[in-house]
Amino acid sequence: MARLWTAFLRVPLFWKILLANAVIVAVVVLVCHYSSGMGGLVPVLVAGVLLSALVNAVLLRLALGPLHALEATAERVSEGDGSARVPASPVADRDLERLRQTFNSMLETGTVYRQRLREITARALAATEEERKRIARELHDGIAQSLAALRIRLRVARAVQDERERAKLLEQVSSEMGEAMEELRRIARGLRPPALDMLGLGPAIESHARNIADATGMAMDLRLEDIGHRLPPDAELALYRVIQEALSNIARHSGADTFRLQLGVAGNHVHADVEDNGRGFDVAAAMSSNGGLGLFGMQERAGYVGGTVAIDSEPGTGTRVHVLVPIYESARYAS
Ligand SMILES: Nc1ncnc2c1ncn2[C@@H]1O[C@H](COP(=O)(O)OP(=O)(O)OP(=O)(O)O)[C@@H](O)[C@H]1O
Ligand SMILES: [Mg+2]
Repeated sequence: MARLWTAFLRVPLFWKILLANAVIVAVVVLVCHYSSGMGGLVPVLVAGVLLSALVNAVLLRLALGPLHALEATAERVSEGDGSARVPASPVADRDLERLRQTFNSMLETGTVYRQRLREITARALAATEEERKRIARELHDGIAQSLAALRIRLRVARAVQDERERAKLLEQVSSEMGEAMEELRRIARGLRPPALDMLGLGPAIESHARNIADATGMAMDLRLEDIGHRLPPDAELALYRVIQEALSNIARHSGADTFRLQLGVAGNHVHADVEDNGRGFDVAAAMSSNGGLGLFGMQERAGYVGGTVAIDSEPGTGTRVHVLVPIYESARYAS
């Protein structure tokens, strides 16, 4: 009996109401049929209407109860409780149960996303801090020392009476200033891939890909269209970093012997494809696990400039990373 009742509760609301009303109508008809001699139809019809209202009210309350749980959970989440989930309800029908599961899995995806975003932000902050320390060290130990030494030499030169001796010292100062300037340039280059500004996106990517191929012994197939300066500097940098991560993953994880890199313009997008013929992997599992942040970071970085990253891979099939970055007309950059 209990099992029958549970099975009835699982039946979709539409059928429950239809069934209940059909049963009530049938009962009323039967009672009318057998009680025509006992006081007329009116009391039977009134009882039928009341019964129908009662049964419909009970069914609707039972069926919609789980929706209140859904609403309460949504409220908790919006108040900041990311761990809130809708509990299973013994009276939910199949449709509501499906809705509950979809809702919970949406919350789960959101939680995982926020967690990864936190990790990547923490990593970016740590990297920025590390970079600042490195620059501070280089400025302090390099340029600052050179400038201090130059100051002393200038003082010495000023005190020297002999013209030729002074000229020689000033010449030394001038050459050391040149070295200090070179050092400064080197530090500045470290802040943004120099090839990107000096050569443009395509050649910068080519130079990086060649380094990877040389270092790993992989064969490469480059098809790089000249995309000029269609992207603003931040979008160029984002695309460059995404390709860098894709190539780094190929070198570290794929076991491939060849990779292919394409860059071009299609419509109002710049697109890049990075493919390898390596072992491939389960993308959904890699994205949801607590492993690396590279894949997640690629999507975030592309997202910041309005772009997207699609990763196609399966174990045994190689991997293809497809990046699209929009070209905004207003942002066409002159060379
Ligand atoms: N081209 C590829 N071929 C095979 N497996 C790959 C490839 N790219 C990524 N993977 C798999 O996906 C996982 C996640 O990659 P992801 O770049 O997010 O992290 P990671 O490279 O391990 O670490 P990092 O945070 O330093 O990038 C990798 O550990 C690897 O197993
Ligand atoms: Mg990686």
